[in-house]
Amino acid sequence: MNLKRIFVLTGAGVSAESGLGTFRDPGGIWSRFDPMRLATPAAFAEDPDEVHAFYNLRRAGVIAAAPNAAHHALARLETGLRARGGDLFLCTQNVDDLHARAGSTGPAHMHGEILKARCLACGAVHPWRADLGTRTPCPACRRDHALRPDIVWFGEQPEHLEAIDAALRRADLFVAIGTSGAVYPAAGLAAQARHLGIRTHELNLAPADNAEAFDEARYGPASVIVPEFVRTILG
Ligand code: OAD
Repeated sequence: MNLKRIFVLTGAGVSAESGLGTFRDPGGIWSRFDPMRLATPAAFAEDPDEVHAFYNLRRAGVIAAAPNAAHHALARLETGLRARGGDLFLCTQNVDDLHARAGSTGPAHMHGEILKARCLACGAVHPWRADLGTRTPCPACRRDHALRPDIVWFGEQPEHLEAIDAALRRADLFVAIGTSGAVYPAAGLAAQARHLGIRTHELNLAPADNAEAFDEARYGPASVIVPEFVRTILG
């Protein structure tokens, strides 16, 4: 296949085999924790300690995890496409840093990054690996009760939407990997790509909620089907 510009959207399924839980699979994160108490601005205003405790655990999990074969394959895809004068636009809903650690450059984190903290007082964004608490002062303005995980919560605007739209419009192929197609606007990108006349592929463990938006699908663990897909593209 001589495709040059590929848009890849990843979700929690790509990091599942690195030991990071998915959200909506049986036993997933949102079956054990209530997102309305942990992942909304109102929840943070009401009980910041509970929200910090949840994200402190998840941050430690991300730091302890390592990229898997799917992350590495996507890094190879980027290098291979670049060598033929094309490019990969990697857009992820994941807040972990496993794509970057596998060698992908600048994935667009549309739901933010857990290894960053943002100050609600001064707006500064800091790289962050330690636990956060209400008494942790912002390194820039020294205010406490101001730092929050730099994560997009329910009811907030996802990040990088302009760059995502521009990249989608110039893509030859749209591929969604390991995402349930349940959270918008990410879930709408497949239908949008199709509307633009771009072919759409789903790589997933099981059909997503928006499976009808894909021209082709392959089901299996990401660590197997993503390297296979990358071999097909790069030949
Ligand atoms: P979900 O938990 O909703 O979906 C995970 C998807 O991964 C499902 O389609 C599974 O079938 C698939 N999956 C599970 N294990 C897999 C494996 N080993 N290989 C391949 N696929 C596998 O996760 P997302 O779609 O990413 O938002 O969820 C979207 C957003 O909802 C997240 O970014 C998060 C959450 O609320 C925020 O935290 C802001």
